[in-house]
Amino acid sequence: MGDKQKLQLLDLVAQYRTIKPEVDAAIEKVVSSGGFILGKTVEEFEAGVAKYVGVRHAIGVNSGTDALYLALKAAGVRAGDEVITTPFTFIATAEVITWIPATPVFVDICPDTLNIDPARIEAAITPRTRAIMPVHIYGQAADMDEIMAIAKKHNLAVIEDCAQSLGATYRGRQTGSIGAIAGLSFFPSKNLGAYGDGGMILTDDDAMDRDCRVLRQHGSDKKYHHVKIGVNSRLDALQAAVLAVKLKYLDQWNKARQEMAAYYNQRFAGVGDIRVPEVRGYNGAIYHQYTLRTSQRDAMVEHLGKAGVPHAVHYPIPLHLQPAFESLGKKQGSFPVAEDAASRVFSLPIYPEISKDQQDQVVDGIAGFFK
Ligand SMILES: Cc1ncc(COP(=O)(O)O)c(C=O)c1O
Repeated sequence: MGDKQKLQLLDLVAQYRTIKPEVDAAIEKVVSSGGFILGKTVEEFEAGVAKYVGVRHAIGVNSGTDALYLALKAAGVRAGDEVITTPFTFIATAEVITWIPATPVFVDICPDTLNIDPARIEAAITPRTRAIMPVHIYGQAADMDEIMAIAKKHNLAVIEDCAQSLGATYRGRQTGSIGAIAGLSFFPSKNLGAYGDGGMILTDDDAMDRDCRVLRQHGSDKKYHHVKIGVNSRLDALQAAVLAVKLKYLDQWNKARQEMAAYYNQRFAGVGDIRVPEVRGYNGAIYHQYTLRTSQRDAMVEHLGKAGVPHAVHYPIPLHLQPAFESLGKKQGSFPVAEDAASRVFSLPIYPEISKDQQDQVVDGIAGFFK
């Protein structure tokens, strides 16, 4: 029982304890209604997220990965097209492009935010480019004004990967409301996490909304009538019920993460060569991850392992160096900023239930490395 309070990289049970009666009641309501697939529970949660982000349509699907795949299809990305994206992300971002099958075209990242560098996008555009897929990594928005301007000039669709950014703002606007279409993930570790897989597509566009609703249900516009080849990718009613409870707390939880990040930042000032997350003044970051950089990352991670300080590396290998993307023909040196970031980053525990004492323990663990 002593380990109840034990610090972890993420403690989903600690969060559950704070909302248990509401979550249990929401689950019970779905189970006793017998309505497990789509229906009112999912519709209400879709409406709640659409309102939260400020978009007209939200379509619940099985995962963030599926959300991005269906968003690409709805945005008109077709076989043989190219989609510009970042190599510094979770593999799902680029994986879904290959499912079309289209080609991911990587562009290096900004050294401060670690998001795609808009200044490098135009050089990557070819006659086959159909879309740009920025990722708001760790919950900080990419440079959307610049990206939208380039997209407009070259007639490209912008698909926002908001898997890590629900609640993050860019110049006062919610991420997910800026591009043509966006994908959210409700993977359990996300700031708004389900009790299993889940995802959602966001758009203001009526035609894309219709397409996504048809595609998620075997291409069906009405029962046993199939207008497209689709997939089976629906958000479970049980997950929607849990998520609807959690959505009410999202702003409060994100605010707690921001306060914890501010405290970490202050404590890490002057500690070794630690570089804290750099958030641009116009960005409202929600710290899906609190990710530091050091030139001695591998030794640091080893030290933290021995000292019992929870940590993770998001992400150790940029996508262009993953064996799965070997056929793209990129190599070490192709995207030096992403490669440098991948060699330096490591993430620390950040979730609303952590105490200041626990944050202090983490800081001490890291400071101990430099002694
Ligand atoms: C940036 C990014 N894109 C896409 C995904 C895929 O989401 P999911 O795991 O819900 O399929 C994730 C998270 O897992 C992610 O972090």
